[in-house]
Amino acid sequence: MTRFQLTRTLPAGTADADLRADVLAGLTRTPKELPPKWFYDARGSELFEEITRLPEYYPTRTERAILRERAGEIAEATRARTLVELGSGSSEKTRHLLHALRPGLEDYVPVDVSESALTGAAEALTAELPGLRVHALVADFTRGLLLPETAGPRLVAFLGGTLGNLLPAQRAEFLRSVRALMEPGDALLLGTDLVKDEATLVAAYDDAAGVTAAFNKNVLAVLARELGADVHPDDFDHVARWDREHEWIEMRLRARHALTVKIPELGIAVPFAAGEDVRTEVSAKFRQEGVRTELAAAGLALSRWWTDEQGWFGLSLSTAV
Ligand code: AVJ
Repeated sequence: MTRFQLTRTLPAGTADADLRADVLAGLTRTPKELPPKWFYDARGSELFEEITRLPEYYPTRTERAILRERAGEIAEATRARTLVELGSGSSEKTRHLLHALRPGLEDYVPVDVSESALTGAAEALTAELPGLRVHALVADFTRGLLLPETAGPRLVAFLGGTLGNLLPAQRAEFLRSVRALMEPGDALLLGTDLVKDEATLVAAYDDAAGVTAAFNKNVLAVLARELGADVHPDDFDHVARWDREHEWIEMRLRARHALTVKIPELGIAVPFAAGEDVRTEVSAKFRQEGVRTELAAAGLALSRWWTDEQGWFGLSLSTAV
């Protein structure tokens, strides 16, 4: 019996075409902008893993502790026979949940853009959870997803607070597309970072060791390698700011002096004024009522809400209606 299967739904070359389109659109508009998904090449993924271990970056360890404590309740409430995880990465946080869902759980469907992360995680999991079928999907979950035929009820997990990387209109569309993967009675487990004091938030995105700054500037290395951009990390400063009105953190790269970035592969030269920013990430922070409202708009009824003692991170369970 084969217990591990991998399906690639990202045609070769898609990522390259997407990067070109995003960079062309993002750097020729005002204000300049690049989508955060281009942080995550091998080096960027490594830097993100490093961020999750920083003292200032509380979301990962806080969510992990909530999951560890609540895995039994989640299993009891959902009785899932299939777990689909969007953006599964190393599947490290999901381990507790998989153990709690066994033996009723038959299939685990991790979805990620990184094939190496998927195969690494699956190897460990099939050894640890004999009898569990792992059907890994190499896919971009912000695009149309086709899931394998597996038994219901399904639990779809989207952890880490990554929903916050989307702008409100994109979140609405994304949540509706997730709902479309579900049957009535299926559940969504969603991790959302919560609004808290500004100093704690800004420190999490501007750590003392400079790892987040290196992560932010890594997108410049991606542009240099993939598109031949003549851009140097020292030409930019890392900026993390709290937008009180929108309740989101913004990361930006700020030009230290006037400069022009030539991108031969796109046939463009992008002028920057001294002090001009390119926004590289929005990381929205949530409140319980906002999460409830956004879920409801997508046809999902919030049924359970868990946080840590400080109320820093929220884990919600909602049901497809
Ligand atoms: C992976 C999107 C949840 O927004 O906190 C970490 C990415 N950016 N430090 C986040 C990130 C800067 C992270 N997410």
